[in-house]
Amino acid sequence: MKMDAFWMPFTGNRAFKSAPRIVKRAEGIMLYKEDDSEVIDATAGLWCSNLGHCRKEIADAVNAQLGRLDFSSIFNFGHEIGFDYAERLISHTPKGIDHVFFGNSGSEAVETALKLALQYWNVKGQGQKQRFIGRQKGYHGVNFGGISVGGLTPNFSTFGQWLMVDHLPHTLDIERNAFSRGLPEFGAELADSLEQMLQFHDAETVAAVIVEPVAGAGGVIMPPIGYLKRLREICDDHNVLLIFDEVITGWGRVGSAFAATEFDVIPDMITSAKGITNAAVPLSATFVSSEIYNTCMDQAKSSVEFYHGYTYSCHPVACAAGMAALDIYEKEGLLTRASGEIGTYWENALHSLAAMPEVIDVRNYGLMGAVELRGSATNKGQLGGKALQAAWEKGVMVRGIGDAICMSPPLTIVPDQIDTIVNVLGEIIPGLCE
Ligand SMILES: Cc1ncc(COP(=O)(O)O)c(C=O)c1O
Repeated sequence: MKMDAFWMPFTGNRAFKSAPRIVKRAEGIMLYKEDDSEVIDATAGLWCSNLGHCRKEIADAVNAQLGRLDFSSIFNFGHEIGFDYAERLISHTPKGIDHVFFGNSGSEAVETALKLALQYWNVKGQGQKQRFIGRQKGYHGVNFGGISVGGLTPNFSTFGQWLMVDHLPHTLDIERNAFSRGLPEFGAELADSLEQMLQFHDAETVAAVIVEPVAGAGGVIMPPIGYLKRLREICDDHNVLLIFDEVITGWGRVGSAFAATEFDVIPDMITSAKGITNAAVPLSATFVSSEIYNTCMDQAKSSVEFYHGYTYSCHPVACAAGMAALDIYEKEGLLTRASGEIGTYWENALHSLAAMPEVIDVRNYGLMGAVELRGSATNKGQLGGKALQAAWEKGVMVRGIGDAICMSPPLTIVPDQIDTIVNVLGEIIPGLCE
């Protein structure tokens, strides 16, 4: 296979091309290498394939849609599946978040949410509210808005921060919260730095706060108990919108359709992608409160209420994939499965690694989790990457972030498969830290 032409994203191209890891096909929770050996997908393909891979129901729906209406412009024209899909989606969103704007990726969902926040304040005559607050270790995609509110240094250090932003401190506190099961006990007070920031910048200039309810790409960081509620209260007190980026936490990952529902904190907007179509066809959604939608509909001065959209917003084939994915989520009870026995099994299995001397933290919620390893002066920050390679060689796909091994298996996973993942981690961890 010639590999020169393809510039791979978020990948060390030179290293990869000298020792490629190729996936040939997939089925259920399994990926298959070129030699047909199995690899358990403990990442659901980057928080995406929640229903397992190659679901026939989705393939059939996509195929049928391609034969019925492959594409039609959504600017000034509509199609039935788009409207039907939107109605169906909002039956799963928290009450009051009942409108949706479509895009194609999590990054686009974020840009849409940020622009909608500006649009909302503008329509209300408060166009001076143009500043955003993100959070350190936050990830909101790779477009200019997303990297500005995001808090992962390599993602913006070369490209700059192009919005007026400030960043809350992150909530990873291994010293106080190591080996938490579920939400960590300590750290709700970190939300109070929002109060200080709003005073410092003047809340009258701040449009919105954006956070991931559980930070994913920053290393799987759960919100401390009470933290998200506190953010909501402070936003309410100061007339600032709250956006939850649920690109990874949406669609059953934390045991409810959305983390907002699970943690009982309702933001003004929710971004969603990935699991929404089981990633079979790209589609993203920015869910919006009635307050935002109705304000824009009632008070926008121009006939077009929001000068924004993508050619492929609400692509009919993506809608068909999304409808079929919803059928499966609903029929198989997968939106809440992670909060049941399998979530407990996952938690216990991951925490069985806590006794290893190399492990300094295990954290989990629903069907997501991370095992943090003790880095040394010579290998600190590299252990996650080493784990990715070692686990791949033993038939498990994991994600490495710094010194953390991060996992988010398909929601269809069964106990035997969890055992295999944890056994492989137990085998590789000592060698990684030598
Ligand atoms: C929380 C969050 N927001 C946004 C994104 C960007 O999504 P995409 O890669 O589809 O643009 C991601 C991707 O992992 C994410 O985890």
